Amino acid sequence: MDYLEIEGDNTLSGAIKIDGAKNAALPLLASTILFKNEVTIDNLPRVNDVFTMLKLLENLGATTSFEENSAKINASSITNTTAIYDIVRKMRASILVLGPLLARFGECKVSLPGGCAIGQRPIDLHLKALEMMGADIVIEQGYVRASAPQGLQGATIVFDKITVTGTENIVMAAALAHGETKIINAAKEPEVVQLCEVLNENGIKIEGIGSDELIIQGTAGALIDVKQIRVIPDRIEAGTYLCAGAITNSKITLENVNHTHLFAIILKLQEMGFDFDLKENSITIKPASKIKGAKITTSEYPGFPTDMQAQFMALALVADGASSIDEKLFENRFMHVSELIRMGANIILSNHTAMVEGKNQLNGADVMATDLRASSALVLAALVANGTTKVHRIYHLDRGYVELEKKLQQLGAKIKRLKE
Ligand code: UD1
Repeated sequence: MDYLEIEGDNTLSGAIKIDGAKNAALPLLASTILFKNEVTIDNLPRVNDVFTMLKLLENLGATTSFEENSAKINASSITNTTAIYDIVRKMRASILVLGPLLARFGECKVSLPGGCAIGQRPIDLHLKALEMMGADIVIEQGYVRASAPQGLQGATIVFDKITVTGTENIVMAAALAHGETKIINAAKEPEVVQLCEVLNENGIKIEGIGSDELIIQGTAGALIDVKQIRVIPDRIEAGTYLCAGAITNSKITLENVNHTHLFAIILKLQEMGFDFDLKENSITIKPASKIKGAKITTSEYPGFPTDMQAQFMALALVADGASSIDEKLFENRFMHVSELIRMGANIILSNHTAMVEGKNQLNGADVMATDLRASSALVLAALVANGTTKVHRIYHLDRGYVELEKKLQQLGAKIKRLKE
């Protein structure tokens, strides 16, 4: 197993390129099940979650090839409609094949993804919505078995909670359904928007893209012809490197970014004292004269993303004042707290809120990554700790960051990947 060794007291400089968004790539890959012909997907991040989704598509019978950042996928050859436990257990987002498989084949079997470190993460809202569209669903031996022999029917769906992959699943199911589907209380994340735009540009009429009410006209089973897709830049990867610039109080530039997707993150960093140069495809973060504490509450887009909560907690540790961080989306997304405390952090947890004291003197330690974004928070803290930190179990990190250590090295950080 690999681990990262980081020498503290870093100042960063220079520029790096941000990769394509993992969370946009995964639904786009799943949507190829709805396509008639081969499609090329460009700007795909070379991260393990993307490889897992490609493996799942291959296991269903699709042909795939992946070179550099571009994959060619032909899902017309799919015959198998069972998404097996062995692949699904590696990545919860595998559930994204449920909607498109059911819509195209009228039946499928998808392993239940199970819980994960950040919380229970049920899929009840995905299932309820598909039932509203006429699907029969039973849970059998750890699998969701769904059938709709006459095809899915358009319906009006009101999500009780805003769900990102739930919205994506139902958009894909609705694309091939009979008639009109209305999704009320839909997620508005840029990754949901990209999926809708791709489908809309290729013949599926979708109204309300980017709003919380989507109206989708289904094709009654006809597959879609899509030739080429380019994945949007990863706003969470970009946000994480902005935090690397901020925690080391350095000037760094990120290229290949869309800062309109990053407003909540940029505004929070501005509140904390940082300044920015925003260009069309790049962002430069500039040092703060004093790093101020912040009050952070996670919410759905366009609010402050839960996927940036851990990284901002690391940053709050070096602020000149206290911060509060309120996690509203996931019940157990504070696994990084105990590891940060091992590095000397003063954090008090009470239910869903973390009170973070400023001006912590952080010290290098052996720490354990617990989930994807928690791992990056530990790396950020290590950049400014005294001495050496070893971050173990970085397979979590490799699920969602492209060569994080190489990008940080490019910015001048003292970090290396080693074997246990
Ligand atoms: C997606 C992102 C993840 C991000 C999260 C919230 C992908 C691949 N992953 O995850 O990085 O942290 O959005 O922005 O895009 N819920 C239910 N029942 C359901 C579905 C969700 O109760 O059927 C709850 C969840 O437990 C959670 C909330 O709704 O409390 C939001 O979760 P959701 O938006 O579905 O997260 P994901 O789509 O899994």
